Amino acid sequence: MDVHASLTDVVGNTPLVRLNRVTGTVPAPVHVKLEYVNPGGSVKDRIALAMVEAAEEAGELRPGGTVVEGTSGNTGVGLAMVAAQRGYRCVFAIPEKSSAEKIAVLRAYGAEVIVCPSDVPREHPAHVHSVAERVAAETPGGWLANQYDNPANPGAHYRTTGPEIWRQTDGRVTHLVSGIGTGGTITGTGEYLKEVSGGRVTVVGADPEASLYSGGDGSPYHVESIGRFRHPETVDDTWPRSYHPAVVDRFERVSDRDSLLTARRLAREEGLLVGGSAGTAVAAALRVAAELGPEDFVVVLLPGSGRNYLSKVFDDDWLRGLGLGLLDDEVPSEPSPTAEARIAGGAL
Ligand SMILES: Cc1ncc(COP(=O)(O)O)c(C=O)c1O
Repeated sequence: MDVHASLTDVVGNTPLVRLNRVTGTVPAPVHVKLEYVNPGGSVKDRIALAMVEAAEEAGELRPGGTVVEGTSGNTGVGLAMVAAQRGYRCVFAIPEKSSAEKIAVLRAYGAEVIVCPSDVPREHPAHVHSVAERVAAETPGGWLANQYDNPANPGAHYRTTGPEIWRQTDGRVTHLVSGIGTGGTITGTGEYLKEVSGGRVTVVGADPEASLYSGGDGSPYHVESIGRFRHPETVDDTWPRSYHPAVVDRFERVSDRDSLLTARRLAREEGLLVGGSAGTAVAAALRVAAELGPEDFVVVLLPGSGRNYLSKVFDDDWLRGLGLGLLDDEVPSEPSPTAEARIAGGAL
């Protein structure tokens, strides 16, 4: 028999697939790691499981306890899945701009959702992270996952994602390309691959042009879940402890236009329905691979599914509203400052 005792046994061990069409004449092979194949649908299943296990081991999360996090995105889904499977209560503080589908998914897993204002600085008591901290502190048995500062986040990638890539490529991987949200993925995977290869693997951060991580001004951008945006009134912009900046050897800065265009091409030309942040990573990887040779081996992490973005990246009217000239019938223009600017904050 080929059966699993628990859903959490099938987290990780995701496939690595070669890109064949969007690569055109690029000389180096580019392979993508399909994290949407995880049971909760994204790379965040890995850290959800690792953070819960670490909290259980440390005695911070006990039977009857409550898992709390400030998130509307994939981490929430991963935590809700693990919590449901282990019998924990689950509460998420989410920004009000979150799509109805995202809220519905969390509720479908039995989670409670507290909707918070989207446009407040980090210091504000109504900010998602402030609310999550308060709920965790005031709930008996409450435990805050805190993916931004939890060492189990990069730790999960060091223990699983990195070794998988090394094994799947037979040690041939030369370049790792990943976006940076909390930084857990690039930090854990990158540190492992550098160590095991004796420093031979180059780690490339794929970052939105405006993101603070690669030296941008922190102004809003449209690709969700990666990069670092700064609310104009935020005073203390401490970077997440899950991100170790030294792991990044080089950045590729990618425009919204390139990211969204690449995500759409991945669906139409490769059959890979992935989100905008995957578009950012592949756009960066194609630039890197163009400079390399056939002996190199590029691996790109694709964090989640495009199903979360059917009303955005894959919706022609939404794209037209951005005015980026992405569609054949659209005349490119400067992005309108009034265009709905969905940004990274709180979207992980
Ligand atoms: C779709 C997507 N892309 C990229 C990331 C960034 O990953 P990390 O937080 O490990 O840096 C996330 C994080 O949730 C994500 O959901």
